[in-house]
Amino acid sequence: MENYLNKIICGDCIEWLGQIEQPFADLVFADPPFNIGYKYDKYYDKRKKENYIAWTKQWMTLCRDVLKPHGSFYIAIGDDYAANVKVIADEIGLTMRNWIIWHYTFGQQTKSKFARAHTHIFYFVKDSKNFTFNDHAVRVPSDRQLLYNDRRANPLGKIPDDVWNTDSRVCGTFNERVQWHPCQMPENLLKRIIAASSNEADCVMDPFSGSATTAAAALQMGRNYVGIEVSENYAEQSRQRLAQLSQDISRNGDIVKDQTQRLLADTRISPKKLLKDKKLLRIFVNQLSVRAGNRQFAGEEVAGVLREIGERDTKMSTPQLDFKQ
Ligand SMILES: C[S@@+](CC[C@H](N)C(=O)[O-])C[C@H]1O[C@@H](n2cnc3c(N)ncnc32)[C@H](O)[C@@H]1O
Repeated sequence: MENYLNKIICGDCIEWLGQIEQPFADLVFADPPFNIGYKYDKYYDKRKKENYIAWTKQWMTLCRDVLKPHGSFYIAIGDDYAANVKVIADEIGLTMRNWIIWHYTFGQQTKSKFARAHTHIFYFVKDSKNFTFNDHAVRVPSDRQLLYNDRRANPLGKIPDDVWNTDSRVCGTFNERVQWHPCQMPENLLKRIIAASSNEADCVMDPFSGSATTAAAALQMGRNYVGIEVSENYAEQSRQRLAQLSQDISRNGDIVKDQTQRLLADTRISPKKLLKDKKLLRIFVNQLSVRAGNRQFAGEEVAGVLREIGERDTKMSTPQLDFKQ
């Protein structure tokens, strides 16, 4: 198995996973083609409904089999097949922990019906009593803390809701966008999943790797990854994306900056707003410490990082709001 760790494998996930004998993944994230006629360079995304459902059951079963006993399994899926995924999960013995709605803040325009602006993300586990859930690593400041000055507020912040609206789709103009893949997930969304449901040095597997967002997030968070992608072109470009990222990490790797960026994206508070408001900054710094397992962050250091991010990011991938004005 070591041969495949930290690699993007070019192949059909059903064939590849079918050859694996031992469970190796602590976390699986799958974002399959949704069967809605998307243009991929190799895969044809408009199959007969019954074939697509049978295929979904096949790969879900194989993913379950390579998942370690305490493992977690997240699946992103569109409206058309969300119900089928849930039924299959029940049939193959997975336990659902959350049915998350990712409400993306930049939906596509429509002419004659309401614009679709969400994707379903299922969070399943193999064993309902034994799984990793690092709540501290994903907590965010609560409204009690931020808005209402409520002394009953939990100083640890709160676990986010199951409707996620902090991340937009990765649009063509975003810095994050790779330009060679049609439907890239935001890294920040993957980071939340990886932070909650894996630990450092764990193995995160993505059977539909695409542009390697899962691998990129795993790499930045000190996890191992395995990505499987049927298109040679996407697989090769993914390897280049990850090689570049490894170089950037070894040059600039900075835990304070990484954590600050992730919390900024999760709260959508602008650096400017934080730097102007001492109370808000204190709550933010405290939340960083909670997320990092009580490692203390110095306010001045965080403020320095916020200044740097504020100046640099003229073109942010997530619009920054001046918090709830
Ligand atoms: C929705 S995209 C994944 C996007 C990915 N989450 C990202 O952020 O870039 C689905 C990907 O699955 C790939 N794919 C389709 N069938 C596959 C198979 N049987 N095995 C492996 N990859 C497959 C497609 O080429 C496509 O890149």
